[in-house]
Amino acid sequence: LTPQRYAVQRLPFSAVSEQDLAAFERIVPGRVVTDPDELQAFNVDWLRMVRGSSKVLLRPRTTEEVSRILRHCHERNLAVNPQGGNTGMVGGSVPVFDEVILSTALMNQIISFHGVSGILVCQAGCVLEELSQYVEARDFIMPLDLGAKGSCHIGGNVATNAGGLRFLRYGSLRGTVLGLEVVLVDGTVLDCLTTLRKDNTGYDLKQLFIGSEGTLGVITTVSILCPPKPKAVNVAFLGCPGFAEVLQTLSTCRGMLGEILSAFEFMDAQCMKLVGQHLGLASPVRDSPFYVLVETAGSGAGHDAEKLGHFLEHVLGSGLVTDGTMATDQRKAQTLWALRERITEALSCDGYVYKYDLSLPVERLYDIVIDVRARLGPNAKNVVGYGHLAPPPWDEQGSLQCPSLDQRPSGRQHCPLGDGNLHLNVTAEAFSASLLSSLEPYVYAWTAEQRGSVSAEHGLGFKKKDVLGYSKPPAAVQLMRQLKALLDPKGILNPYKNLKNGPVSTSRG
Ligand code: FAD
Ligand code: MLT
Ligand code: ZN
Repeated sequence: LTPQRYAVQRLPFSAVSEQDLAAFERIVPGRVVTDPDELQAFNVDWLRMVRGSSKVLLRPRTTEEVSRILRHCHERNLAVNPQGGNTGMVGGSVPVFDEVILSTALMNQIISFHGVSGILVCQAGCVLEELSQYVEARDFIMPLDLGAKGSCHIGGNVATNAGGLRFLRYGSLRGTVLGLEVVLVDGTVLDCLTTLRKDNTGYDLKQLFIGSEGTLGVITTVSILCPPKPKAVNVAFLGCPGFAEVLQTLSTCRGMLGEILSAFEFMDAQCMKLVGQHLGLASPVRDSPFYVLVETAGSGAGHDAEKLGHFLEHVLGSGLVTDGTMATDQRKAQTLWALRERITEALSCDGYVYKYDLSLPVERLYDIVIDVRARLGPNAKNVVGYGHLAPPPWDEQGSLQCPSLDQRPSGRQHCPLGDGNLHLNVTAEAFSASLLSSLEPYVYAWTAEQRGSVSAEHGLGFKKKDVLGYSKPPAAVQLMRQLKALLDPKGILNPYKNLKNGPVSTSRG
């Protein structure tokens, strides 16, 4: 995709001059990249769909350097694109035109870790997998995990409010991030880096920056609460005959595995076909229309394996599941996880990918995949559905099973199994405007009709900025605009992302 295809125009920011480059060289000596070959990888996103033409990348090491860079850019009216591991799915991490790229790659120091509380304080550019290894060596785990762990930065995770594979157990980063240090657009360092579990001294300002996708400030340091490492982790991989059975399996999991359930992921047969075809991964169970990965994490290996074994017997016996396998050792568990985690990679090998990341009531969640498949017919190569499901954290009586996850619906229309996160992906040999027009706004209008979200976990970035109105009412969008204007009056922080310029369509169902 090119910016032209989205019909955006460059805003009247300054262009980087020789004097600017000299100023940057004084701030981050030897860490100003202007070589066009070296810049290429930073100008294009992971999906290779959004490409910018930045002429300069800066690699600060400290908060002070970030502050000086922003102060300079603010004074000079230079647009800035904060970038972490560049694994984002919505084109937010790369410039659209010639924005200065501010990379956190060298801000990779762990500042402190408390071995009793599990509170980790680190710079924003620490790679998630490296943090995982660090805390696991100390008997803790990171509260989030995702397929991009080898490249994504914790700052990028916070900036996108990434969900991922541990959301079911540990909830959102809005709960586990305790504090942030953020550099504001004029260079002011906002120190909200508390490590306190409780702090009601006025507005919780860090929440503004969680999920703000680099549009309100640059996150430089993160304080995050890490849970203790579970003593036993088991994984089951199951084949289900239909989506109704996937949901009944989820409900059964809630009843039989309760407190040890730590992940519930699903994928359809088309996903399995693609990971086999493009990555050579073999299914561990007989062919089925749907597959489910169930993970348990608890304190007693024998007890947990026995519980999972009983659950497996039950779902196999009742016909909810047609085949299943269980892993109690780490190597086999990782092999099972790869089938689910590597779908994104397999899709990229399949061709051009139209990517949707929706929150929907679980009982309607897969209907849209079936609808879209019928709607596109042979024009699409593959239409697939996979994603993250979680039983709601309250039980049938409305008591919370996990108090850190208080998301009880206040409305009357609460559905017993809550909502789920569907990744609806369509592949084609190449980009086609007519295929896109069959998909959009259809998918967004469908989602709005269910009062779902058009971005469950990936954010809006560049690609979804125009569809915000399908999930947020006009007054909320207006308040977002006001906050942006307050925190970034010149609009230099990650422009063209998140909020579009001009009026927002209010197509909410
Ligand atoms: P980037 O991609 O570099 O940036 C993302 C956004 O954050 C951009 O708008 C950028 O400007 C901003 N940003 C980055 N760092 C900072 C900072 N320090 N301060 C301010 N703004 C900043 N997402 C999920 O939610 N769940 C998943 O399960 C999941 N799985 C994935 C699997 C794969 C294989 C891939 C490729 C991606 C996946 N993602 C998932 C997408 C996800 O958003 C990112 O992987 C991750 O959170 C982004 O981190 P990053 O460091 O790569 O950020
Ligand atoms: C996932 O759940 O695998 C990620 O969110 C990435 C994707 O949607 O492909
Ligand atoms: Zn996901």
